[in-house]
Amino acid sequence: MATIQSHSMLTAYPRRNRENRRVAQVFVTRRLTGDALERLRTNADVEIWEGDMPPTREELHARVAEAEGLLSLLTERVDGALLDAAPKLRVVSNYAVGFDNVDVAACAARGVAVGTTGDVLTDATADLAMALLLAAGRHLPEARDHTRAGRWQTWEPQGWLGLELRGARLAIVGAGRIGRAVAQRAQAFGMEVELLGRDGDLRAALARADAVSLHAPLTRGTRHLIDARELAVMRPGTILVNTARGGLIDQAALLEATHVTAALDVTDPEPPPPGDSILNASHVLVVPHIGSATRAARERMTAVAVDNLLAGLAGEPLPHPAGQR
Ligand code: DGY
Repeated sequence: MATIQSHSMLTAYPRRNRENRRVAQVFVTRRLTGDALERLRTNADVEIWEGDMPPTREELHARVAEAEGLLSLLTERVDGALLDAAPKLRVVSNYAVGFDNVDVAACAARGVAVGTTGDVLTDATADLAMALLLAAGRHLPEARDHTRAGRWQTWEPQGWLGLELRGARLAIVGAGRIGRAVAQRAQAFGMEVELLGRDGDLRAALARADAVSLHAPLTRGTRHLIDARELAVMRPGTILVNTARGGLIDQAALLEATHVTAALDVTDPEPPPPGDSILNASHVLVVPHIGSATRAARERMTAVAVDNLLAGLAGEPLPHPAGQR
């Protein structure tokens, strides 16, 4: 299929399919892994944003003017202003299981369906939560800095003492698919797991825990779920892992809470501004939102996002609508 470079940041594909039928216009806000976009191209007129950085708000609003489908990432805010700029939009397919970047009510009010990538990144994210727990619990970043700096002089019988997972108590906040997948892994390591749903006694669980892993969606009710009061009840040395959304933690309070060791895949905002203390605090490890970053998970995410888009464009129920966790 011929590719027409219509703008330095865009790849555009023809407006008719092989049978010469007019097809719907779709805007995809970044290049994606996997071959599912080929399937989309045979059924839609696809424009892909080619930039390594997301389109600016102005660029995004200009690009959706004629779009009937939008494949958005968590870097895009899909709100009333975007919907106003996209009067023909029928479906938003968000390339994430979280959808706090999408105003679902505003979409519903305009009859725009919203899809997410569902459970295809559950294992990848749960794996990363365990990796962060182990990295923080066994001081891996500091140990690597130490050896690289040439400071490794001998085997230290009292050095580098960390958390042994067997018998340690892990509080998992959020009992959805990813929380449950972390629970399975933690149990395999011999941890005592406390899985907290919406009605669990968060503070009591935090006070008991050796480690805490967050797996709740970010909503008005969960913003700063972990704030100064929650941090205060956590015992010295407790490890706090967050692979969900940065807004679940009050970051200013976390910076003060040096008795806790945090391992964060997500921050608020993302990325933190250059020089932000969260990047350099010695009790905080930050990685750049890589929970779903396995090749297999990202390929599945592309496939599900395309399935959602095609269903929405066909006026059918989305296979993975927002709201199902
Ligand atoms: C999600 O899907 O919500 C992750 O944060 C990114 O893959």
